Parts: sequence; C-alpha cells; structure tokens
Amino acid sequence: MKSVIVIGAQWGDEGKGKIVDIYSEFADTIVRPTGGNNAGHTLIVKGEKFVFHLIPSGILHPGKKCVISNGVVVDPKVLLSEIDRLKERGYLADDGQLKLGLLANVILPYHISLDKAREEKLGNRKIGTTARGIGPCYEDKMARIGIRVCDLVRPEVFAEQLRANLDLKNFLLKNYYGAEEVDFRKTCDEYLAYGERLKPYLIDTSLFINDEMRRGAKVLFEGAQGTLLDVDHGTYPFVTSSNTTAGGVCTGSGVGPTKIGSVVGVSKAYATRVGSGPFPTELFDDDGQMMRDRGQEYGSTTGRPRRCGWFDGPVIRYAARLNGMSAVALTKLDVLTGLPRLKVCVAYDVHGVRRDEVPLALPDFEAARPIYEELEGWKEDLSSSREYGDLPKAAQKYILMLEEIAGVEVTLVSVGADRNQTILRKNPFRA
Ligand code: GDP
Ligand code: IMO
Ligand code: MG
Repeated sequence: MKSVIVIGAQWGDEGKGKIVDIYSEFADTIVRPTGGNNAGHTLIVKGEKFVFHLIPSGILHPGKKCVISNGVVVDPKVLLSEIDRLKERGYLADDGQLKLGLLANVILPYHISLDKAREEKLGNRKIGTTARGIGPCYEDKMARIGIRVCDLVRPEVFAEQLRANLDLKNFLLKNYYGAEEVDFRKTCDEYLAYGERLKPYLIDTSLFINDEMRRGAKVLFEGAQGTLLDVDHGTYPFVTSSNTTAGGVCTGSGVGPTKIGSVVGVSKAYATRVGSGPFPTELFDDDGQMMRDRGQEYGSTTGRPRRCGWFDGPVIRYAARLNGMSAVALTKLDVLTGLPRLKVCVAYDVHGVRRDEVPLALPDFEAARPIYEELEGWKEDLSSSREYGDLPKAAQKYILMLEEIAGVEVTLVSVGADRNQTILRKNPFRA
C-alpha cells in the first residue's frame, strides 16, 4: 500500500493535526518532513487538548512509529520539552516510538535572535514570522554552515562549528542589529547536553521509512504550514523558508515520489492567515469577527489573532495543482453555521481584468479583488453530524461548489475540533 501525504492547502492552520490524528488510525508510521516549531498542530481527544510543534500528530496512537525527518529544523529545547510533557501525560512510554533524523538542522539561539532582530528592523514591512529562528536556520542550511543533529553528539565537531558560526553571527547581532551577542561556552554546554538527551531517538530516518515501506507499512506524511507559505510558490516574501508543498515532503523525508499514493490537501471551509502578506478575501467586518470568535482563530504557536475571510477558490485550485492533490479534507464547516449568506471567491479582478488563477507577482496578488458567488447559509448545528447525509442540504451544496472549484473530491468533512467530530467519507489509504 502506498503512502499518503497530508498538506495544508491554504496559509497554514487548516487543521492538519486533527486530520493526521484521524488518518493515523489507518497508518503504521507518521512522518513530519518539513518546517519546525513554527508549526502548531492541535488535537482534541476526548476533550483533552494537545498542541504539537515538532512531534508528529500520530503520537497519541500507541504502537505507531513517529518520525521527525531530515527536512525539519529542530529546536532541541522545544523538542525535549514536548517529549517531557507527553511522558508526563502518559504517552511515549516507549522511546522507540519516536525517531529523529541525524541530518536535521538544529535551531540555535543566534537563529532566534536574528529572526527577532530582523523583524524589528523591518518595522511595518515585517513578515510577521513566528520568531522561532526558522528562516535563519534554513538560510544556514543552504549556505552550508548549518549544524545538524549528528553534530550535536560529537563535542569537538560541534564546538568548532559553533565557534566559527558565532564569529559571524555575533558580529551581525552586535554591529548590524545592535542586539545582544550569544555566549559560546554557555551555548556549547547547553546544546551538547540536549544532544546527549536526544541520542536514544537518532537514526537514519530515510533508511527507516523506506525499510518500513518495503515491509508493507502504511506511511502517513504530516506536512506543516500551507501551500501559499511555500518559499518557491507562495506569496513571497511573505512565506516561510521551506517547501511546504508535496514535493518538499519527499525531499524532506528522503522518500522517492514513486512511493506516494495520494495527497490530501486540508482546507478550512473559509480562509485564515497569520502574519503579513496578501489575503484577497480578508474580512474586516462582523462576519470576519464571527469566524474568529466561533473558530477560535488565534495562533496555536504564538497566540496571535488570525486574519479571517471567505473561501478562496483560485487558492484551492492552485494548491490542487501544485501538490497534485487527490482529495480535500474540509475542516471547520461548523463555524459557518448561522451566516445567512456565504460568499465564495471564484476569481479575482486584478486592475480591471478578470483572473481565474492566483497572480504570481506580489503587486498583482496585493491588488487582487475577489469576485464572489453567493450561496444560502444554514442554521443547523453541524457538530454532531457523523454522516454526510446528516448535513443540511445547504451545507452539502456548499461542499459541492467547493469540489467543483477545486476539481477534487472532499473525502472528509470536519464539524468540530474533537477527534470524533468528523465525517470520514473515504480512507485515504484505500482511495
Ligand atoms: P494545523 O496547524 O493545520 O494543524 O491547525 P491548527 O491546529 O493550528 O489550527 C486549527 C484549529 O482548529 C485548532 O484549534 C483545532 O482544534 C481546530 N479545529 C480543527 N478542525 C476543526 C473543526 O472542524 N471545527 C472547529 N470548530 N475547530 C476545528
Ligand atoms: P502550521 O503547521 C500558519 C507563517 C508566519 C509568518 C510566515 C513566516 O501550524 O500550519 P516563519 O516563522 O515560518 O519564518 O514565519 O509563515 N507561518 C505559519 N502560519 N501556520 C503555520 O504552521 C505557520 N508557520 C509559519 O505566521 O507569516
Ligand atoms: Mg497551526
């Protein structure tokens, strides 16, 4: 059986964590291939809330293997505290359940300081990053000066790399940004201790995943961020610093594209975005506030209020194309209950010209005005619907319209944050 990729089809926070938790029941191994602790993936299981930043959202399923692979940028402090908290809550009793890639790049204190200092300097042109050091860490990786997890467990190698990097980073921090320098000795000792604690989890994750596949294991990949935040295809420069799309999943985990069976794009029934950058359907009125309140649209990582707006058709079509999406998992449909009319953006007006596709150049994207079609809303509470037929006709009509726009089937509908508030129409490993 081929593997399944789950990716975000919008600007992140689509509900990937919840969907991965549900699909984990059908999988043997769950892999986080990209991003870092800029991600915040929320699960609600029997009323209990879990937020994962690095550990795959399959970890609550006993016996399932969870892998953080080489494409992830790992803040060891955050990972270790996530491990500790899980253990305190009675999970991850067997350390063998979690694997960490030897070649994953490590986020160090200077990455975080540089991320913050740079944003501050940008002022009102800032990207609105999560301030977790993600961009600076990926930059070092590409500049071939990154420090990797395998280096953390070799004290001499690590000390030498750290010293060389601090030479440059402290020069920048002090002289260009006027920020505080990072202390060599303190950092060296602290991070070597983290390396020691992470040792039990370290393996060649590409080898592990491919071996698992050869044995017939079902592998589920948990993308992070969203399609429009992809460094190559998103709303650059208002993006993250990695490839968030399906291709990035293969690169990040060391798995060839022929091993992928299907790609499920997770999308909210409306749209949200955190941080700066174009968002054509953004609402500044009561409808937007209602989405924020009802959908509890506040960042899982930073607590920032999320910008809210109507469903964006060209965006889902773009995501379907870029990721080769085979299905959509539609989340938060329950949030739209009570709105008398629903708007769906079907195209944009860019400087007086109708455009059906996402405009690539930033000024065009910023100038894009949504062209809407309206549908009737519904008043019924959806949160206890468990079959597609339980949904009111108006909600079914809304889903049909989104399917038509995306050109892809909606195979899961989520009607609440809890694991059981889900209408599962197809098992992605069988579809
Ligand atoms: P992710 O980053 O894609 O995993 O998404 P986040 O966890 O950052 O944000 C999604 C939020 O929506 C979380 O608070 C979830 O608990 C919540 N959520 C997920 N699906 C649903 C749903 O169908 N309805 C409602 N009301 N909340 C949902
Ligand atoms: P999950 O996996 C939503 C956004 C930030 C900012 C931009 C760059 O939970 O969906 P970064 O810190 O990555 O350099 O910030 O990307 N961003 C996210 N927005 N969900 C995420 O992850 C995000 N990860 C990064 O808000 O606009
Ligand atoms: Mg999130």
